[in-house]
Amino acid sequence: MTNRITRQRIFLPSPVNPLFFFMAAIHDQFDTILILDFGSQYSHLITRRCREHNVYAELMPCTTQLKDIDFKPKGIILSGSPYSVYEKDSPHVDPAVFDFGVPILGICYGLQEMAWQLKGTVDQSDHREYGFANLKMTKIGGSASVDALFEGLGDEMQVWMSHGDQLSAPPPDFHVIGVTATAPYAALAHDSKPFYGIQFHPEVTHSPRGKEVIGRFILNICGCQQHWTMEEFIGKEIARIREICGPTGRVIGAVSGGVDSTVAAKLMHEAIGDRFHAIMVDNGVLRLNEASQVNAMLNKDLGVNLTVVDASDLFLSRLEGVEDPEQKRKIIGNTFINVFEAKAAEIEAAAEVEETAAGASKKGRVEWLLQGTLYPDVIESISFKGPSATIKTHHNVGGLLKDMKLKLIEPLRELFKDEVRALGRLLSIPAPLVQRHPFPGPGLAIRILGPVTRDQVRILQLADNIYIEEIRKAGLYDQIAQAFAVLLPVRAVGVMGDARTYEQVVALRAVQTEDFMTADWYVFPPEVLKRISGRITNEVKGINRVTYDISSKPPATVEWL
Ligand code: XMP
Repeated sequence: MTNRITRQRIFLPSPVNPLFFFMAAIHDQFDTILILDFGSQYSHLITRRCREHNVYAELMPCTTQLKDIDFKPKGIILSGSPYSVYEKDSPHVDPAVFDFGVPILGICYGLQEMAWQLKGTVDQSDHREYGFANLKMTKIGGSASVDALFEGLGDEMQVWMSHGDQLSAPPPDFHVIGVTATAPYAALAHDSKPFYGIQFHPEVTHSPRGKEVIGRFILNICGCQQHWTMEEFIGKEIARIREICGPTGRVIGAVSGGVDSTVAAKLMHEAIGDRFHAIMVDNGVLRLNEASQVNAMLNKDLGVNLTVVDASDLFLSRLEGVEDPEQKRKIIGNTFINVFEAKAAEIEAAAEVEETAAGASKKGRVEWLLQGTLYPDVIESISFKGPSATIKTHHNVGGLLKDMKLKLIEPLRELFKDEVRALGRLLSIPAPLVQRHPFPGPGLAIRILGPVTRDQVRILQLADNIYIEEIRKAGLYDQIAQAFAVLLPVRAVGVMGDARTYEQVVALRAVQTEDFMTADWYVFPPEVLKRISGRITNEVKGINRVTYDISSKPPATVEWL
């Protein structure tokens, strides 16, 4: 897959580039599996699968030198890669891993790399094997009585292959533990050391028992404790935030009403109470009644110290007449910074006055900026980029941190989205919010194809609201990863009563996806679409036609702009 076209994403309200300001002492608290990434598009899935076994796993580039890491992993997994081990620029792992004294599992290229380093033979091939294969678990000549990697998994299983090169001879002291019709060395184990290699990808769901294979490795072979749960994380993270902020430090952060910023805000509130100040900027292109709903939920229900700034006039005036989506993104990103900074300065000044009046000996300055960075963003910024490995680029809005001289605090930076949702539930955040579909930083501005005006925003808000309401009523919301309406810049003829109408068209989009890098359009029951269409054309003045988008990603993207 290739890079995302020329679109510059903006992610609000996570307004700055990820900086590695502090790393959690997480490895001291949880057994860790180190995944060395050779640039496969599946590498992050290995991390996820380990976490699904409640084992903390962290991805680092394959170029990582073991002497530079300050923790001892319980095991190492070498990922796949778009490279061939014999290519001139192909990535190679620090040979010290093989003397590190921990179990190693090589997956696909990881197996070939292991064979290449340990003197096996890898054959280059012009053909890729891509698709399902039947793995027969076997044991030819090894001395181990049980090959722990497949223990209890039966004699054969379906696996997913995606490789060009493959082994033609194993390294000395390795024995075969699995074959397929085309790969005589599809799975290997060392005769006496805990080193394993598999040609297939256990991390993808197309290998139905792949998660169990990963479980055998990390639990039985590496002996990891299954302590990585959000129940454990929450207490440790709150303690860590308190230590970082000290007794007087203040934190400021933007919230959007999305799950990430809400969970991050509530966690900060649990840790330091009103010394965390949340700011929500109403940019005029939010969903229907969003600012007031977020205010009610975060401030009134969850007790978070929140200021809502209505800057919709400013945003809409700067967006006037702008059609180009990148221009829209830039305007919204820059205006967001202006508004956020001004409000932050006000809050800081007010905090100083308050504490001086209270005679505090040490002023509680605003020193920290909360950012809701998640682990996939971290992975994108640190993972090894192979020739075809970069799937999308992130462009967070820069500049804020430099000018504000604030340090970053990122309590969610080790978490995947499903972990954030689990954390949200533990923090008593209402279920509908925890399961909420993502909403882009530039909001409805990138769902209005054409100039953004208050009228156009209103039409889209109403249509989108009906759409989501009906999806919820039909009990389908949680089956869909993201659903939204798009306002098209065309007019179509219709008839209402006896009169001819000439009005706008709305497109409905709903997708299912695991990671938003690829997505399938969602197949609605026809009666649901019928209800939605009927309600939109009846209730939203200005719309006389509703279409449903049946494009997958690729070749389309999720958003229209
Ligand atoms: P695409 O359109 O790239 O969308 O297939 C994948 C996911 O990214 C979201 N998206 C954005 N989110 N700022 C954001 O915060 C953006 O500029 C942006 N563009 C797309 C999109 O909603 C989907 O969830």
